[in-house]
Order: sequence, then C-alpha cells, then structure tokens
Amino acid sequence: MEKYGYTHLSAGELLCDERKNPDSQYVELIEKYIKDGKIVPVEITISLLKREMDQTMAANAEKNKFLIDGFPRNQDNLQGWNKTVDGKADVSFVLFFDCNNEICIERCLERGKSSGRSDDNRESLEKRIQTYLQSTKPIIHLYEEVGKVKKIDASKSVDEVFDEVVKIFDKEG
Ligand code: C5P
Ligand code: MG
Repeated sequence: MEKYGYTHLSAGELLCDERKNPDSQYVELIEKYIKDGKIVPVEITISLLKREMDQTMAANAEKNKFLIDGFPRNQDNLQGWNKTVDGKADVSFVLFFDCNNEICIERCLERGKSSGRSDDNRESLEKRIQTYLQSTKPIIHLYEEVGKVKKIDASKSVDEVFDEVVKIFDKEG
C-alpha cells in the first residue's frame, strides 16, 4: 500500500521479531502467547508499534500514514491504543477480511508447511479462532457501530481480494 503513502506495520510480525531479539525481556512471554493464540499485553505491542511509527516519521515527517495490520485485537489492545495514541492519530477506517473459520484454518495449515511459525498448527489455530470469536469480533463490532469498517470477502482468491482492497484505497486512500 506504499502507492497510497501508507507504511505497513504488522503487530504480529513485530511481536515475532521481538521474540528473536536477544536483548528483549519478553522473549518467553511472547512465545507462549503466540503458541497459545492469545493476545500479548498491549504495553508490549503498543511500544513496538509506537517505536516503528516514531522512527518512520522521524526519518521523513511526511510519512505519517500507517496501515496497522492485526491491531487492535481485543479490549486491552484498544485501551492501550486510546491511552497512547488518541489525540495524536486519526483512525480513518478498519479493513475487515471476512473469512470462515475452516478456510482460515486450511490456509494457515498450508502456510505452516513452510512458514516455520509455531502457531500454524491445528491446535494453535483452534485457539486463535477462539480468541478471535471471544475478543476480536466485539472490537470489530465497535468500529462497525461508528461506521468505520470496510468489509472484504476474504474467502475469494488472492487476486480478487487484492482488487477489493485496491478499490477501497482508491476511494478512501
Ligand atoms: O496477526 P497474526 O495472526 O500474524 O498474529 C500472530 C499472533 O501474534 C497472534 O495469534 C497473537 O498471539 C499475537 N498478536 C498479539 N497481538 C496483536 C497481534 C498479534 O498478541 N495485536
Ligand atoms: Mg498478521
């Protein structure tokens, strides 16, 4: 989404990277949470996101638009965001890649053949689905109530999903 001036930040990827950082005090905690499909306490996640945003804007003040992937995933994430970023950033919209559980599990199992991720196995995936249903879905509903959700049918092919995303950015970008 660079074309539209966004910097892509993935909360999950930042947590994975932090897990590999030998200086981090959170390595074991993050590993455990990810394997169990649970959401890491927001203090950790928001500090990683904020560091990336601050560094990006310090290098180039015009780069102040971010596409944050996989966040906020629960009430704790949302509160942490409001506490740290509210008043400094606007949330323009939320992209909701809607896809049924079975397709998600199949895709992640397929990815698991080469991803090396400790959570791309059936047991972790079932837990991730539970976390999604219990903790993430209510957050999507909150954004729906204020008209910020752009829903995409993510069960379609990669190309079709991409076209949908492009349409949204062309309109809203
Ligand atoms: O987004 P993704 O599915 O790649 O995230 C992988 C894992 O990273 C999640 O299952 C969760 O354990 C952790 N995560 C988190 N908080 C977020 C995003 C991801 O704890 N906001
Ligand atoms: Mg992700």
